Amino acid sequence: MERILITGAAGQIGEALRKGLRGSYSLVRLLDIAPLGNAEDGEEIVAADIGDIAALEKAMTGIGAVVHLAGASQEAEWEKVLPLNIAGCYNVFEAARRQGVKRVVFASSNHAIGFHRRERFIDNTVAPRPDSRYGVSKVFGEALGRLYADKHGISVACLRIGTFRRADRPTTARELLTWISHRDMAQLVRCCIDHPNYHFVIVYGVSNNLRSRWDNTNVKFLGYRPEDDSEVFAPEIFAQGKKENEISAQFHGAHYCPMEFTGDAAQID
Ligand SMILES: NC(=O)c1ccc[n+]([C@@H]2O[C@H](COP(=O)([O-])OP(=O)(O)OC[C@H]3O[C@@H](n4cnc5c(N)ncnc54)[C@H](O)[C@@H]3O)[C@@H](O)[C@H]2O)c1
Repeated sequence: MERILITGAAGQIGEALRKGLRGSYSLVRLLDIAPLGNAEDGEEIVAADIGDIAALEKAMTGIGAVVHLAGASQEAEWEKVLPLNIAGCYNVFEAARRQGVKRVVFASSNHAIGFHRRERFIDNTVAPRPDSRYGVSKVFGEALGRLYADKHGISVACLRIGTFRRADRPTTARELLTWISHRDMAQLVRCCIDHPNYHFVIVYGVSNNLRSRWDNTNVKFLGYRPEDDSEVFAPEIFAQGKKENEISAQFHGAHYCPMEFTGDAAQID
């Protein structure tokens, strides 16, 4: 039974994983700057900042796998993205190397590939095409993961998560494509932690949605078999009659694409 560390454990996904993975590992160490409440059986709580590499090293003592969720979880000003998602992400991989951690599961995002046209069904091999500073930081995290896999032999899984909501349901037409349920998220992370052997992998973190625009064939070897499909929410969502923004509707990254947009969408192939 593995000993695992979850960074950003007080967030939406962290909270769901804390519940969903309870009892599966000999130790689940939970790290955040936000309050995490009391430790349950099999848990340890660590109040630490991912900006503090010494604290991360300490938190990774005796840990076999790290699930890295902490940081800016949406588009933000550079002054926030830089320390949290660039420097903080580096600290996590580097602390893992120094502590001999065998595996890192990194919460990447669909915004790493957001400016690919939605009419194209894309897989895990498409070129990075970030739609935001946040998306660039996720491309950076994936690149760091590949470096630490190739150079230091750490096994790395990057999950390009679609849309995970505390309410455990999609709320817009676009989220019907990208939604991942709480139990599918827990299953996917469990598959990434438990699989006996992989070097580096990028997969989409998405449920079995009828309308998905991502070819996630690559995830199958991990044993991930999503149980949920957003389609059950489709009638209710379409009944709201909301129209998607014209630029948003053209790309995988949706509403992140028109943010601060001063380009020419027609030029984006
Ligand atoms: N929720 C989604 O739809 C979604 C989609 C794609 C990717 N992701 C990624 O998954 C991860 C988790 O997302 P979430 O929705 O749970 O986000 P969240 O914002 O709910 O949680 C992030 C957590 O990180 C913690 N944190 C922030 N700065 C920290 C620091 N300096 N040190 C330690 N902890 C810090 C916060 O306190 C928070 O608990 C993020 O990396 C996010 O980019 C989420």
